[in-house]
Formats: sequence, C-alpha cells, structure tokens
Amino acid sequence: MKEIQKICCVGAGYVGGPTMAVIAQKNPHIQITVVDLNEARIQAWNDEDLSKLPIYEPGLDVIVGEARGRNLFFDTNVDKAIDEADMIFISVNTPTKTYGKGKGMAADLKYIELCARQIARVAKTDKIVVEKSTLPVRTAQAIKRILDQTGNGVEFQILSNPEFLAEGTAVQDLMNPDRVLIGGSETSKGKEAIEALAAIYGAWVPQERILRTNVWSSELSKLTANAFLAQRVSSINAISELCEVSGADVNEVARAIGTDSRIGNKFLKASVGFGGSCFQKDILNLVYIAKSYGLDEVADYWEQVIIMNDHQKRRFADNIVTTLFNTVNGKKIAFLGWAFKKDTNDTRESAAIYVANDLIEEEAQIHVYDPKVTEVQMLSDLDYLATRDAESNAKHLTVHADAYKALEEAHGIAVLTEWDEFKTYDWQRIYDNMQKPAFVFDGRNILDHQMLEEIGFEVYTIGKGK
Ligand code: NAD
Ligand code: UDX
Repeated sequence: MKEIQKICCVGAGYVGGPTMAVIAQKNPHIQITVVDLNEARIQAWNDEDLSKLPIYEPGLDVIVGEARGRNLFFDTNVDKAIDEADMIFISVNTPTKTYGKGKGMAADLKYIELCARQIARVAKTDKIVVEKSTLPVRTAQAIKRILDQTGNGVEFQILSNPEFLAEGTAVQDLMNPDRVLIGGSETSKGKEAIEALAAIYGAWVPQERILRTNVWSSELSKLTANAFLAQRVSSINAISELCEVSGADVNEVARAIGTDSRIGNKFLKASVGFGGSCFQKDILNLVYIAKSYGLDEVADYWEQVIIMNDHQKRRFADNIVTTLFNTVNGKKIAFLGWAFKKDTNDTRESAAIYVANDLIEEEAQIHVYDPKVTEVQMLSDLDYLATRDAESNAKHLTVHADAYKALEEAHGIAVLTEWDEFKTYDWQRIYDNMQKPAFVFDGRNILDHQMLEEIGFEVYTIGKGK
C-alpha cells in the first residue's frame, strides 16, 4: 500500500479547517495543505493572532498553533495543492439549491462539480479523492465520471468519508469519534485506498471504530444519521407542545423516557427548534432523493421533521406576541444569543433568525447580545430571508456588545442560544432595569426559573404547562 505523504483539502470551512488541523496534529509526517477560493478566510486561518481564526471552536486555536507552519498550511493556490497531493479531500459546501430543478430541496452540487473538474484538469499522477462533504447517495459515481474524462491515464479512487463532528464540540468529536466511516469500491485498488485512509485515522482512532462500507452505504449513512438526530429533536419538541397544554413537564418526560436504554438520554432537549447548516439541508436532500425514486411515503415521513421544526420556531414567536398583550409594536424584545447553539459563531439556520423575522413583521424592536456573532452576520442573516429590505431590517435590529445594555428597558427577554454565561447574570439587576411586567421566554430551558419567579419575572418555559 502506498503511504500518503501529501494531502490537499479543498474547502477551509467548519469541516475542512478543524478536520485537517486534527489529522495534521496526529500525523506530523504528512504535509497537509488546506485551500480555499475565499482569500479572507485563508488569511484569517494564517493570522498570527490565533483568536482571529475564522471559526470559533473551543480548543481549535491550540491545535492550529501546534501544527500550522510545521505540516499544516492554508493557501489559496488550489491547483498547486491538488497537483502535489496523493490524497485530496473535497470539503466544500453543499447548500440547498435556491434555483431551478429541486429548488429548496436538493443539494446544490455546483461546488462539488467545479472541484472535480479542477482536479481532472490539474492532476498528473494517481490520486485518492475523498468526499468529506455531505453528498446525496451516488454522487461518487458523478465525480468518477468527471474525473475519468481526463483521458491522460491518471487513475482516481473515490472514497466517501463523511464527517460526524458537531459544531461547538468539533475538536472533542474529532479527537474521540464514536466511529470513522469510510466507503470505497470493493475492487483491490478500492480496498487499498480505504486502507490508506484508515491508516491516517489509525494514528489515533482504534481500528475497531473505523467502519468500512461500500460507497453508497457510506453516503446514505451520513444523511440518515442527521435525519435520525433531527427527528429526535422534533419528536421531543412535538411532545413539548402537548406538555404545555396538559400540565406535563417536558424535562420530566425526557428524563423518564431517556432512562430506557433502548431510547437513551441524548438529543432529547426541547428547544425553540433546531438550527445549524446540516439538519434541515440534509433532511430536505433525503426527501428529494426519496421523491426522485418515487418513494412518496418515505419522503413525507422525513419532511414532517422539518414541518415540526418550523412550527416550533413560529409558535415561540407567536407566544411572545400573545403574552405581550397581543402586540409587540414598538416594544423592545431582547435576544440572548443568535448562534444556532452555544460555543460556535455559526448562525446558519439559527432559530433566532426566524423568531426575529416574525417579531419584526409585528413591528418589534429587537436588541441582541451574542458573545461570538457579529452585527454584520446578524443583519446578513435577516437580509438573506428577503422578507423586507436591508434598511428596514437595520431599523429593527440593534446589536449590543454588553448584555446588560441589550436587556435594559426591555419588555421581554428571549433566550435563543444556550450560552453558559447567561446563567451567571445578575438577574435581579436585569429585573430592576426592565419594563414591568417583566417577561422571560426561555427557548433553551437553561435559566433557573424558580429564582426568576421569586425575583418577580413572568417566565415562559418550553414544554411546561401552568
Ligand atoms: P463552509 O461553507 O464552512 O466551507 C466550505 C468552504 O469551501 C468555503 O470556505 C468555500 O469558499 C470553499 N469552496 C467552495 N468551493 C470551492 C472550490 N471550488 N475551491 C476551493 N474552495 C471552495 O462549509 P462546511 O460547514 O465546512 O461544510 C462543508 C461540507 O461538510 C458540507 O457538505 C456539509 O454538509 C458537511 N458537514 C458540515 C458539518 C458542520 O458541522 N458544518 C458537519 C459535517 C458535515
Ligand atoms: C449536527 C450533527 O450532530 C453532527 O453529527 C453532524 O456532523 C452535523 O450536524 P451540529 O448541527 O453542528 O451537528 O450541532 P448539533 O449538536 O447536532 O445541534 C443541531 C441543532 O439541534 C442545534 O440548534 C441544537 O441546539 C439543537 N438541539 C440539539 C436541540 O434543540 N435539542 C437537542 O437535544 C439537541
């Protein structure tokens, strides 16, 4: 088996950056170059000040600090890195299509195709091409067809190696993965390629945790894993609404069912709705694939997970309006958190965006504090929805660097992200400086509600009946 000496990773995003940093740290003998078309992003990855990396992930700065310049490099010269590499990871974005056939459902594979064409054009020696991006089942076939067009005798092996890291815990997940999945062709060359990649992970992952499958199983397993995880969140959120009307408490129900070892206690936290760049996109993709095979019942089954999630976000906003005497017109609603979960600066599909959008439709003034998300990002998230023009969004959204300033004089507070620091605030001080009655809508169930009620707040908790 040929030992891999040089790796190129195309795409320096939330997956490419952390994944390659950990592979480089654990394999100091392999030279890894992460390339991207986005010059600003590459510049930020190369910033001497490690607090300025383009992605916030606890612990990532230390790993990048150790490997960067030794065997980990960030560059914009994509051709050169492809040319020199024995193994190429494709880690580019695969968003939901916003135009044409499959609009709003199918994965947009234009970045993948561009990447494959670039590899085909540049490669002069045999390469192992690894799909790290999340892709529809049978994409490897399309990549192979494009690569085989080169006609210059270069041989390509395509592997599927989906990434299971979650943002906010990426380093931990990469260091200690439940499993690494590698799908490849069942030919002898295919098996060789699988083992070359398994050897790289084998530097720190026990072999029994490295699963080998055929390419299609690997591609489909990634979509399935995300669909199952998201389905648990929608399931508990569906029950949370039933709890609110029946007097049950969703936390107690989650604990009661989670102790059943067949169900397990993870991913049962009721919330304002799941966000993130993966769950919605991957389920829509699954739904689209099922439909394209004529499997309407399968498609409808999974689509319900998204329908439930949209409902959960909308009813959170509706409840704020109803509770604030049926109008938020001109009222100050303070948001604690904008990121889709704690410990990340990523806001893609964050519930906060949709709740803010609904409240702005009702003419509310939204004041936000998030420890890691910038004002530019928040405004661009709202603008992306295209509900109103950018000027109107800017008039309705104020971003604060100080949480207490965001909360001052507010009519209501909505917790949208579960940042730990929110629990440690001086809630008496916050109460004293708010409009009365002082309302808290805890979309993450993280605050001490008894303490808040003793202070005088009126607290709305997801999944708890009165
Ligand atoms: P991202 O948008 O953060 O990063 C993708 C990067 O690829 C961008 O910086 C973009 O400029 C670059 N790019 C696109 N086309 C390029 C090209 N032709 N040449 C060079 N660079 C190019 O995306 P991400 O969150 O890292 O996700 C990447 C893939 O990994 C997606 O398929 C996603 O579904 C999957 N995934 C993401 C996560 C996650 O938590 N974010 C987890 C598992 C899997
Ligand atoms: C997810 C998958 O977990 C990961 O394996 C995959 O590689 C990428 O997609 P990520 O989206 O980064 O990871 O975060 P995750 O922890 O899964 O949370 C997704 C959303 O669900 C967040 O908005 C989170 O707040 C929400 N969530 C999660 C809940 O509302 N309740 C839960 O119990 C768990």
